Amino acid sequence: MRVRTAILISGRGSNMRSLIAAASDPAFPAEIVLVASNVEGVEGLKHAAAAGIVTKTIPHKSFPSREAFDAAIDAALSEADVKIVCLAGFMRILSDWFARKWEGRLLNIHPSLLPSFKGVHVHEQALQAGVRISGCTVHFVVPELDAGPIIAQAAVPVEHGDTPEALAARILQAEHKLYPAALKMLAEGKVALDGGRARFSPT
Ligand code: GRF
Repeated sequence: MRVRTAILISGRGSNMRSLIAAASDPAFPAEIVLVASNVEGVEGLKHAAAAGIVTKTIPHKSFPSREAFDAAIDAALSEADVKIVCLAGFMRILSDWFARKWEGRLLNIHPSLLPSFKGVHVHEQALQAGVRISGCTVHFVVPELDAGPIIAQAAVPVEHGDTPEALAARILQAEHKLYPAALKMLAEGKVALDGGRARFSPT
């Protein structure tokens, strides 16, 4: 049985596409059963629908509080019998209770080598710091932003004269390989969240 997985997006959904493409192989251990967005009509939703995946728009603006919005997301996930949730360019901070409820089953991808350069304007931060290597990280989500236990990382060189856009595009290529690999590990039980750390099973 493949693990029922949802992807939460807010925009173009290129990481979502890489996850959908990986899961289109029946041998991949996770199946994408739902794509939900907090923003209506985004490119990612169109692609998911065209790929035959159930899509849902849950506009955060229609809810009186963060908790009420998160409860609606949680209800959609439960209704679809989802076991793993991948955040992929999902631009809302989730409430503590949501992160705790999905602890160990909620992943995010961030376009830096965490714990460096958390939050927004990540590539600007990297260029400002003058690092020669940046990259991307897939981590378990915990209530603190961009602070969860790390599952996988890929390093990407910073080139001389890089703009934030050029660096972002180079890192995005690495993200598209890293996220499916990390989801595969979780769905196969090769990594788990254990006592606040990522525990890896011997292969
Ligand atoms: C990616 O760079 C991801 O790491 C970050 O937001 C961006 C989303 O891009 N969290 P996309 O929507 O997956 O194309």
